[in-house]
Amino acid sequence: MAATQRYSNFSIALHWLIAVLIIIAFILGNIMVDMRISPTKLQYFSYHKWLGVTVLGFVAARLISRLLSKAPPYPESMGKVQTQLANGTHILLYVLMFAVPLSGYFYTLAAGYPVVYLGLFELPVLIAPNPEIKGTLKELHEILNKVMFVLVLLHVAAALKHHFYDKDGLLNRMRPRF
Ligand code: HEM
Repeated sequence: MAATQRYSNFSIALHWLIAVLIIIAFILGNIMVDMRISPTKLQYFSYHKWLGVTVLGFVAARLISRLLSKAPPYPESMGKVQTQLANGTHILLYVLMFAVPLSGYFYTLAAGYPVVYLGLFELPVLIAPNPEIKGTLKELHEILNKVMFVLVLLHVAAALKHHFYDKDGLLNRMRPRF
């Protein structure tokens, strides 16, 4: 397997932390919307929102670190088209990692609920309750989630292809080293 340079430990840690938190928020989101109204459902809504806000903060931190330090180069065997596809997918993933939590945040505010992070701090109320746009924001949150789901599957499939088929060491760039 070809030797490749790696991302910084900070970037690698954030990548896997964000991945785990998104998966949990996604599963919890799907579970909670199908539940009948109960104190547990409301508790799950709170956990979901806290997870989503945490993702937002970590994604912002990772984007800053990604812009400040150059990503390691792709293996030469990838060629121009594959490199452009990979870059395009990564940009789209960043857009969605911001858009998904933000759409949930604005939906919650439009529905008239404040977001109280970890039950401790009320986050900024950036828009007034608005029943007219509430439904659209809810739908947007669902649609963006579906698009992100497909893109994450593509991202994982590409990583596995590089690791098992191309054997070009690409996955090592993001492998934690303990
Ligand atoms: C990584 C971040 C997030 C992910 C992956 C995510 C995922 C999801 C999913 C899969 C659903 C179920 C959609 C459906 O099929 O009906 C959902 C619903 C919901 N999410 Fe998020 N979400 C995120 C962030 C947020 C944030 C930051 C908030 C608010 C602060 C939020 C508020 C909500 C609310 C209120 C619902 C329920 C919608 C309803 O009333 O049916 N989400 N989310």
